[in-house]
Amino acid sequence: MDASDQLDESLSCRLDFIRRAVKPCTIVIFGASGDLTSRKLIPALYHLFTEKQLPDPFRIIGFARRPKTDDAWRGELLADLQKFSRNKNLDVSKWNDFAARVSYCEGEFGDLNAYKKLEQQVAASPEESLRRNIVFYLATSPSQFCEVVQHLCSAGLLHKSEETGSGQRIVIEKPFGHDLVSAKKLNHELTRFASERQIYRIDHYLGKETVQNILMFRFSNSVFEHLWNRQMVDHVQITVAENLGVGARGGYYEEAGAMRDMVQNHLLQVLALVSMEPPVTLEAECIRDEKVKLLRSIRPFELAQTARDAVRGQYGPGEVDGQKLPGYRQEPKVKPGSNVETFVALRLLVDNWRWAGVPFYLRTGKRLPVNTSEVRVQFRRTPHVLFAAQCGPNLDANAITLRLQPNEGIFLRFNGKVPGSSMEIRPVRMHFDYEAEFGAYTPEAYERLLLEVIAGDSTLFIRRDEVETAWSIVDPIRQAWANEPLKDDDLYAAGSWGPEAADALLARYGHKWRMTQNA
Ligand code: BG6
Repeated sequence: MDASDQLDESLSCRLDFIRRAVKPCTIVIFGASGDLTSRKLIPALYHLFTEKQLPDPFRIIGFARRPKTDDAWRGELLADLQKFSRNKNLDVSKWNDFAARVSYCEGEFGDLNAYKKLEQQVAASPEESLRRNIVFYLATSPSQFCEVVQHLCSAGLLHKSEETGSGQRIVIEKPFGHDLVSAKKLNHELTRFASERQIYRIDHYLGKETVQNILMFRFSNSVFEHLWNRQMVDHVQITVAENLGVGARGGYYEEAGAMRDMVQNHLLQVLALVSMEPPVTLEAECIRDEKVKLLRSIRPFELAQTARDAVRGQYGPGEVDGQKLPGYRQEPKVKPGSNVETFVALRLLVDNWRWAGVPFYLRTGKRLPVNTSEVRVQFRRTPHVLFAAQCGPNLDANAITLRLQPNEGIFLRFNGKVPGSSMEIRPVRMHFDYEAEFGAYTPEAYERLLLEVIAGDSTLFIRRDEVETAWSIVDPIRQAWANEPLKDDDLYAAGSWGPEAADALLARYGHKWRMTQNA
């Protein structure tokens, strides 16, 4: 380590004192035989265990319909862990230690007796905190959320309480409702049996390091925060591009579409973090208050505006690197004439003091050319004198890009003189690269999120009013689309950047989509 590294190290500031300690607990996973459990939840819990981050003791109980023994379930989990773990060198003795705390409970979600059996398993724990501190993870289909929670209550496993950080907690996966009305109904049902403080609504984007870093970047640096407003920013672009299609998830996607699957949650969350006001403290409620305030200031879409400022698309067949790819309508479990969007681009306006008049462009899609998520804050051009007067539009405007994934990093783009006797100016970049700075370790989002639930900290989870406000933003657009079938122009070739209308949307306002690899 050289002297400057040592200085950086000595200036690093640990905020762990504001984090809650993890207390011994039982984690019950409903939907134990499902994909989420084997691909994400168990690998995340196992890594937390090997890194000694889980409380001691802890227990994991899987609840699902299929009959199987504890050992059979452990065997399945191990096989899947070997496939999905971020660490390919599995330590068998550590796995055995971990597996000794894992057991299975067979039962139908609708059968109260099964919950009584679960209650007996929980009650058999010698430690009081394992019996009292319980995380119920609902990795089930959304239609089962209420039923499970109601039965947990009837079986005496869940007690409604306003206490923070201990007792029973419920983790709910998205989608949380399919529109504002259903989300309100679900919130109403769940809060009959559990208080809002006990409900942890997951948006896995909030577990990503780079997404968490947005607040640190904005509010621990005076340099950037001064620029973050309508005086300096011309517009903001948020892109979450995926190169994969819907694959085996056609059944789910037919009900969701890109708007429900990505925009209502991940993109609006990123937008809120990028543009919210500084919270009063780092307490969960203060941060969530600011996010809700921001979401509420997004200007609601009127019907006529949908045609102008909202673009949807659906991927058709295409070819990438010589490989033929099917269109969305040819994917398994997708209706041949499906009207579901796999691409969305929006122009949103945030009607508050800081952002009035600054467009926020959001774009997401499947089967795009790259797998990349980033936020680009595009600054205003310099006044039309000196260099700008000479170069015209060729003089690029400054931009900061927060690259969320992959090749995580932050880029500042500005202009510099090309060395030599000619007078030439061109864009150059300053680049912070996570891997170069901190090494390759990036824990999975689910590791962080599970740890926060166990600790009882809800900062990285979505509050009731947040989820409802997000639905109220996307619902009018979806409703406008629902009445109109997709047109030929809305179809885009797999492997392309979406329908042409997405480029036209920005062009209409004098802008252009830009990303780090093509900008
Ligand atoms: C999920 C969506 O929430 O996020 C998927 O349901 C999508 O359709 C995924 O592929 C993207 O997550 P990530 O972490 O790969 O960007």
